[in-house]
Amino acid sequence: MMKKKDKRKPPGIFSSGRAPETGTQVEDAEFTRAGKEGKAMYCVRKVTDDLYWVGANEHRLRLFENIHPLDGVGVSYNAYLLMDEQTVLFDTVDWAVCRQFLDNIAHVLDGRPLNYLIINHLEPDHAASIDEVLLRYPECTLISNEKAFMQMRQFGFNIDGRYEEIVEGDTRTFGKHTIAFVYAPMVHWPEAMVSFDVTNGVLFSADGFGSFIALDGVLFADEVDFDRDWIDEARRYLTNIVGKYGPHIQALLKKATPLLPDIKFICPLHGPVRRKDFGYILEKYDKWSRYEPEVNGVLIIYASMYGNTESAAMCLATKLREKGVRDVKVRDVSNTHVSWLISETFKYSHVALMSVTYNLGIYPPIHNYLMDMKALNLQKRTFAVVQNGTWAPKAGDLIREFLDKELKEITVLSDELTINSSMTEDDLQELDGLASGLVDSMKE
Ligand code: FEO
Repeated sequence: MMKKKDKRKPPGIFSSGRAPETGTQVEDAEFTRAGKEGKAMYCVRKVTDDLYWVGANEHRLRLFENIHPLDGVGVSYNAYLLMDEQTVLFDTVDWAVCRQFLDNIAHVLDGRPLNYLIINHLEPDHAASIDEVLLRYPECTLISNEKAFMQMRQFGFNIDGRYEEIVEGDTRTFGKHTIAFVYAPMVHWPEAMVSFDVTNGVLFSADGFGSFIALDGVLFADEVDFDRDWIDEARRYLTNIVGKYGPHIQALLKKATPLLPDIKFICPLHGPVRRKDFGYILEKYDKWSRYEPEVNGVLIIYASMYGNTESAAMCLATKLREKGVRDVKVRDVSNTHVSWLISETFKYSHVALMSVTYNLGIYPPIHNYLMDMKALNLQKRTFAVVQNGTWAPKAGDLIREFLDKELKEITVLSDELTINSSMTEDDLQELDGLASGLVDSMKE
């Protein structure tokens, strides 16, 4: 049995009870766990002086919000613990990872009481463990806003006598650190707010600047190649979860602008912490929330039952490449979850929708994609439409009608193509014209 270290020793840069078994270098692994001798299940990281990441990673969940596939990448639920004269926890985690979270808190507190729990966002992926924290830490007082406390009661938490209500602009001092509260309604729920540590420049940004992908030991965005390995999941997270609320994100960005010179860390509730290159992610958020594309390119989304429309999609992709378009992405609507299609539609300036007709209507997965675009307020894109039908092609007209009537600031190119079952030489000529129309539109 390993000998216990001094319990008052503060946690190190990286601490994991699992590390000794795997051979990872760990300086301060400590074999205690919430009062159970011989156990060490904590896994924490230091963000900056006095502040620790005490969240947890989720790899078992297949569908985030029971709808968006995590596809083996997982997700993190971040929570942060400030060790000032008073101890302050920022948010909790999903119930599924509560045990890890509780062990992390116990390790960092190291016998001290937990004095405050600040709740920035009440969606259960962050708030489900509130009552467990209150139960284990009887001195703990909740700090949040009126709407959050109303929602806590709706979710059945017993918070009577355990909370302090703040309003926007209020501050609380916990020793060295003073925290200011800024409302961020609808980023992502009505009660959402962000907290700013005016002492050390840490912004606790709630869902803002979050991402799918479990951290798995990463803490800072600059420890990974974010633009290569994370940006697609960051976009998929933001556009599918908060895409509908672009104007609210814009409002938050506007509020945050005066704070920018003082922000040293951005600590979101999912994904890595940022301590540099704020301009990179702010620019992405500005574009996504204004529904402006990141890339002048073409996303081809096709629906094909027997491969004929797929063949046309390949021809179009080839023609676009031959005409010099560098950014072309092809997606089979039946094999690509709509969350990816949404994310990529936010990315690309142009979309070619190529669909079979089904029951004299729009192929159901294409219809689902259209409905999701409407729900998420997607706008300001240029579409080209190709339809296929063996005896009564209808999908194209119906897609055009949907785009015209249901989405905002959409251009549908006049070039069109109707395929009867499979491509002919004449169809190829028309497809060439449609590709030229897309290229011309991209130059405008
Ligand atoms: Fe990650 Fe809106 O909760």
